[in-house]
Amino acid sequence: MPATTTKPAEQAKSVAKTSYKIGVIGGDGTGPEVVREGLKVLNAVTKKHGFKLEFVNYDLGGERYMKSGEILPDSVVPELRKLDAIFLGAIGHPDVKPGILEKGLLLRLRFELDQYINLRPVKLYPNVETPLANKKPEDIDFVVVRENTEGLYAGAGGFLRRGTPHEVAVQESINTRMGAERCLRYAFNLTQKRNKAKKLTLCGKTNVLTYAFDLWERAFHDVAKEFPEVKTDYAHVDATCMWMVKNPEWFDVIVTDNMFGDIITDLGAMIQGGMGIAAGGNLNPEGVSMFEPIGGSAPKYTGRNMINPLAAISAAGLMMENIGQPAAAASIENAVFNALSSGKIASLAAGKMGLTTTEVGDLIASLI
Ligand code: IPM
Ligand code: MN
Repeated sequence: MPATTTKPAEQAKSVAKTSYKIGVIGGDGTGPEVVREGLKVLNAVTKKHGFKLEFVNYDLGGERYMKSGEILPDSVVPELRKLDAIFLGAIGHPDVKPGILEKGLLLRLRFELDQYINLRPVKLYPNVETPLANKKPEDIDFVVVRENTEGLYAGAGGFLRRGTPHEVAVQESINTRMGAERCLRYAFNLTQKRNKAKKLTLCGKTNVLTYAFDLWERAFHDVAKEFPEVKTDYAHVDATCMWMVKNPEWFDVIVTDNMFGDIITDLGAMIQGGMGIAAGGNLNPEGVSMFEPIGGSAPKYTGRNMINPLAAISAAGLMMENIGQPAAAASIENAVFNALSSGKIASLAAGKMGLTTTEVGDLIASLI
């Protein structure tokens, strides 16, 4: 491949870049409102750290679909491939049947851009209320690495005799050795880099899903040989839910498949204080990654300046880390930490923050 076609992400690793092109998809519901606050904070960090972000807006989501029938025009995907990263608000519209936008936009982007890791940190900040009695910030600080391109999400399956009393519906979980292995290797690397217990827990269901998790478990132990400093651990998904509530301090990094990762990260979001603070990254370590608050579009709060933008702001922080600006990421993380420690935000729940969406964004930007 000639040097001129090197992907932006590869360039970021070899040369310290000073200018980045970020795709912005506000999307549905409260997505645009929280993205606006994320951009406000990003503008403050670029000023402080001396690099440039160029934002390219993409009008995608439920409104556009209802007006034009378009979900993700084919011409957009190649454009997105040329970006340094994508910043996404939320996908899901109350007037569009569930599944259409999720599959046609969010999942299609994850698949087409081969964002094979869904990285979801679970971290309790000071002064944030957790439903877990007697648990403190030092007890709730782990990361979930969710496989993001396979499993039940691959869309394999179908109907037989649909709509008849003899109807059959099949939904298959696709697990490839390559897919499991690249996800596991990412998780081992992350565990090694994180300065905690250096423990990686595989979350599966080897007692029932005896094909899928047999593959995962064999790959886990094979990849483990490359990481002698990392302690390996295993828990079934049901037990993982139990330990996340009872002893979250046992976890450092959890690696799991797409479906289990989806489920346990909603639980993770709740123990860290709710959807208002839970951020995630859809990563293609060799390509273009996409960052989003993991909560939905919250139609009930749309346009009311009530939604919590901290998850989107933290997602913007993950994005800075990922494009190769770790100091900017640390500034965002510290600003969120300081804002919460100061007690200026009464609650993380929408409408109960004691501040509006805009005011929370202003507060974080002022602390950068
Ligand atoms: C998430 C969401 C999505 C998922 C939905 C909206 C398709 O719940 O990002 O966790 O299931 O992955
Ligand atoms: Mn989910």
